Amino acid sequence: MDGLELLRQDHDRVRTLFTSFREAADAEDGTQMAELVGEIFHELEVHTAIEEEVFYPMIHDAGGQDLTEHTDESYEEHHVVDVLMEEIRGLSADDPSFKAKMTVLMENVEHHASEEEDEMFPQVRELFSQDQLEQLGEELQAAKTRHETAATTKEDLLEQAREMDIEGRSSMTKDQLAEEIGKRSER
Ligand SMILES: [Fe+2]
Ligand SMILES: [Fe+2]
Repeated sequence: MDGLELLRQDHDRVRTLFTSFREAADAEDGTQMAELVGEIFHELEVHTAIEEEVFYPMIHDAGGQDLTEHTDESYEEHHVVDVLMEEIRGLSADDPSFKAKMTVLMENVEHHASEEEDEMFPQVRELFSQDQLEQLGEELQAAKTRHETAATTKEDLLEQAREMDIEGRSSMTKDQLAEEIGKRSER
């Protein structure tokens, strides 16, 4: 698949999840909100990771100053979303700032995705051949599969940590989770 098309489909999937989240938020359905946040964060983590690993490095120096600056800004915009995700992970759905932080996160992501589609992608399409864009698609897909697998393992570990009631589990890395679970299992 054309790499730009793959990225655009990711954006659309996230937009659909945002719509569902807003509906759940209007209905004050905390359970549904928490579930959607899990899905949204998963999508965002995988998408930003494959852009940073494969897409941004490819385009960073491929065009003019404009594209370079836009790419640099994109890394920073991803970073802001990372920070927000980290903060939201530490809150329960009924925390007063949960909805507000999610709203800001969604607005940030929507703005970022639209800029990529409207300003970045057209430039990239001019700079690269269709063959190169197909190749990009394959590399993005491969990176995606790798991250999906890693994320699933982490989710499994988190689930185990939840069952063992391990404190501070939500802020742990995959390795830390594995280590804590290992320690408890030995007892
Ligand atoms: Fe991005
Ligand atoms: Fe994107």
